[in-house]
Amino acid sequence: MNFAGQLTHPVFRAVGEEADRKGQSAFAIGGFVRDMLLGRPSKDIDIVVEGSGIELAKAVAKVLGAGKVSVFKNFGTAMFCHGDMEVEFVGARKESYERGSRKPIVEDGSIEDDQNRRDFTINAMAFRLNSDGFGDLVDPFDGLTDLEEKTLRTPLDPDVTFSDDPLRMMRAVRFASQLGFHVEKKSLDSIERNANRLDIISAERIHVELNKILLSERPSVGFKLMFNTTLLHRFFPEMVDLKGVERKNGIGHKDNFYHTLEVVDNVSETSDHLWLRWAALLHDIAKPPTKRFHPDHGWTFHGHEDRGARMVPKIFKRLKLPMDHQMRYVQKLVLLHLRPIALTKEEVTDSAVRRLLFEAGDDVDDLMTLARADITSKNEAKVERYLKNYDVVVRKLVEVEEKDRVRNFEPPISGEDIMAAFSIPPCRPIGAIKNIIKDAIMDGVIPNQPDDARALMMRCGPKVLAEWKSIQFRLSEGEFNEKGARETFDTWLTQFEV
Ligand code: CTP
Repeated sequence: MNFAGQLTHPVFRAVGEEADRKGQSAFAIGGFVRDMLLGRPSKDIDIVVEGSGIELAKAVAKVLGAGKVSVFKNFGTAMFCHGDMEVEFVGARKESYERGSRKPIVEDGSIEDDQNRRDFTINAMAFRLNSDGFGDLVDPFDGLTDLEEKTLRTPLDPDVTFSDDPLRMMRAVRFASQLGFHVEKKSLDSIERNANRLDIISAERIHVELNKILLSERPSVGFKLMFNTTLLHRFFPEMVDLKGVERKNGIGHKDNFYHTLEVVDNVSETSDHLWLRWAALLHDIAKPPTKRFHPDHGWTFHGHEDRGARMVPKIFKRLKLPMDHQMRYVQKLVLLHLRPIALTKEEVTDSAVRRLLFEAGDDVDDLMTLARADITSKNEAKVERYLKNYDVVVRKLVEVEEKDRVRNFEPPISGEDIMAAFSIPPCRPIGAIKNIIKDAIMDGVIPNQPDDARALMMRCGPKVLAEWKSIQFRLSEGEFNEKGARETFDTWLTQFEV
């Protein structure tokens, strides 16, 4: 079969002509071929050359007037960018094709050798680029049929292919989830047999696949596959723990694994935001460790949002996911995920809405998306009622935000303002006074205005400072130690009324 008509990018003809000149055979291979045949867009082209890929890359870059060629001598690869395409050249090899491997490439091979050592038949197809046979599909394992039948199959015995690079087991799941393919039985059995080999793969490589699974149209497909093959057990025990239903006195709870996946799928219908999908994945992660049975009220998961938020850094660290703002965002949404529902349960007060706006900040819309996705009841009337309640909450959020602007709350009075007003050095009462002002704004006692905040500071500041002074005196008298002094002050503050 010939696909010359579709190989319109100038790089293909240029590679073919330069390869002809050097007497080499060159092919486009792998993901690009697969995606082109599937009609999916591609951002990179992999070229395999019998012989040196580096020299050919340099020659092609020159005729195309492409930018700098980056050469990775140890790996025998070279790449350059042409327009928005990344073009990578590699010499055909006899052993496994492993992107993330640090092993240098030693043995040159033919195109057949190279295709043999790739992960799936659909990724082992190549287009010939030399002018003699330009665009011919080289497909020794009938990847084209697998593509049509949406099957993931390894070119060699799956035990061999997966042992060459165990990450490929995750790639199988990822492609299944991303492309809506199924993994052939033999490969699936092999994954189950070899799942523990994933332990030698770095967390970074695993999370790349995990993120791609999460970004697929229905992430649940990938997670169920990972669970059934026990791949998930190798790196995500907390998720495995969500699985199962316990019954006591004839009362069961829902299976939190399936519930979680439903929530992730629901979120994925409305948002492509990777970290929001992570928040959905982790929102109930602490249900197993907080699960209790009470003969009177059945199953409870008290504090799972708080405990879950505390589990987030541990999980991110283990999977080597980014520990900065992305992690904090996920942690925040896990912590707050019950708040919108709590708001619908009682009369929605302005003060509760203001506090939620303040705590969620700009992520309040994502929090509402998560809260809506979290409604997985099969009872349609119930779902409708909950969603309507959320509409009320959203209206209230908009209304209060317009009035009070607390979503990106900046304290109207700074620590410096307080120090200047009372001529005091940095000390504990400053934070306390700032907090009193913030709480008063949140509770609607004063409007979010500098003048009102200043008036409150002048009214409350002296009382707070006097109490602090008296506690300092008692400290010097040995009534309590530093810690005791702080605790006494904090207790006094909790009872302080403005
Ligand atoms: N490959 C492999 N084994 C791996 C990784 C990659 O055999 N563990 C081969 C496959 O032929 C694959 C090609 O290298 O098609 C390119 O790999 P990569 O760019 O990682 O993936 P793609 O298949 O292009 O898919 P995507 O771009 O969606 O990641």
